[in-house]
Amino acid sequence: MRILVATSEAVPYIKTGGLADVTGALLREFRKKNEKAFLILPLYSAIKNNFKLYRTGKSFSITLGDITLEAVIWASGKSPDPESYFIECDALYGRAELYGTAEGNYPDNALRFIFFSRAVLETCSVMKISPDIIHCNDWHTAMIPLYLKTLYRNNKLLKDTAVIFTIHNLGYQGIFDASDMKYTGLGPDFFTPEGLEFYGRLNIMKAGLLYADVINTVSITYAREILQRENGFGLDGLLRKRRNDLHGILNGLYSDEWSPAVDGCIPGYYDPDDIKGKAKCKKVLLRETDLDDKKLPLLGVVSRLSSQKGLDLIYNSLEELVSMRANIIMLGKGDSYYQKLFSVAAKKYRGKIFVEIGFEESMARRIYAGSDFFLMPSRYEPCGLGQLIAMKYGTVPIARKTGGLADTIQDYNHILMEGRGFLFSDYTPAAMQNAVKRALCVFTDKKRMKKMVYDAMTSDFSWKTSAEKYLGLYKKAISKVKE
Ligand code: ADP
Ligand code: GLC
Repeated sequence: MRILVATSEAVPYIKTGGLADVTGALLREFRKKNEKAFLILPLYSAIKNNFKLYRTGKSFSITLGDITLEAVIWASGKSPDPESYFIECDALYGRAELYGTAEGNYPDNALRFIFFSRAVLETCSVMKISPDIIHCNDWHTAMIPLYLKTLYRNNKLLKDTAVIFTIHNLGYQGIFDASDMKYTGLGPDFFTPEGLEFYGRLNIMKAGLLYADVINTVSITYAREILQRENGFGLDGLLRKRRNDLHGILNGLYSDEWSPAVDGCIPGYYDPDDIKGKAKCKKVLLRETDLDDKKLPLLGVVSRLSSQKGLDLIYNSLEELVSMRANIIMLGKGDSYYQKLFSVAAKKYRGKIFVEIGFEESMARRIYAGSDFFLMPSRYEPCGLGQLIAMKYGTVPIARKTGGLADTIQDYNHILMEGRGFLFSDYTPAAMQNAVKRALCVFTDKKRMKKMVYDAMTSDFSWKTSAEKYLGLYKKAISKVKE
């Protein structure tokens, strides 16, 4: 099958969150299976500066409203079967960040990603590629299904191409001022409540949800949750209309990438049968972060700093967590509001709480390896990779029972002494603190803790099953196009 994965981020090139882990892992998994899979990404400055890519010699220009922009196609991997294509347009992608800074999103994001969606299809045209399936991910690529069924309907290379749209996060829909509609190249008949209009504004994700042959999201529970009004971010009605085409496929972890037995960023290697290296990781991490007491339980947090992640529960529990004699390490980047809040708290609780603001792959890995518990009290969580990585690194998750967290963490049963984490349901500091108390209770019993760590580390989160499920969905989408 010829599979095109269109995404705004992918490992190893560029990452701000789990989307990059997933698209990068899927590509590698498909190529392992000898599928003809490839990625298309914007060529951000960070990619250009850090990777050895080559120019394909092809370019195109697109007019959006009154703006005409030129793009040059770059590639990585051997011709004639490059592993990835990159769209170079420095006016749009030659910036320090992907989507914006702590102060807010870039004001021209509508233009940047409408252009990218068109550019993906132009790249197929110019490079003479005829994919069987285009896999679009989140709002940044959501215009592709619509364009495929309208502007590119008669394109010989694309007329039989099927399209799947994956919702990684319904909380980010690409909602813009109505005036940005001019960039879409579509007439006013598309700007209706049944089309891209959303309470008087332009909603780009709607294009994906309306026009993709098949839709999925990244866990079974989240697929169910988003059909309800309270979790649907205003799109639950539309999703209910398409419920027969909406599926849930759980994300996996790419095991070559995430393994404490070989992770070059951590100071001690270990595996489920010999976890001595984990103690070394904790020791080095505590030294690095100046936390007081080496014997206390260590709670790690690695997160985008956004309201999705339940950070207010953590913030409102700091006093209580410290009085429970837990140490906390947090690594995060995102909203300036949270960055300031936690930086101030770190000063107040010096020696008990350490906060690092930034996106640092190596430090994230040292936290996964060196912590005893991983705190992830998300308000909502489509799948979540943090808890999967934590478990793989023998760090027991304490998480809210929502979305993918509910699907991947087996809550500890104190009587049967079974489980791989601690779950709580109510979105309150008290409920989270109670889960932490349960965790600390197990922490004091070395034997029980050891078993829990072993069980967490031996969980199966490989991509194998999920990649098969994606191939199955692709086939379903392809057969719909042929109908
Ligand atoms: P989301 O995609 O909503 O941010 P996930 O749990 O699915 O949440 O994935 C987050 C990914 O990003 C994980 O690989 C996590 O380790 C990584 N990550 C998040 N914040 C940081 C950070 N500040 N520094 C390094 N890695 C981070
Ligand atoms: C999103 C979600 C996260 C999910 C990731 C990859 O960013 O917030 O839960 O794991 O995408 O699918």
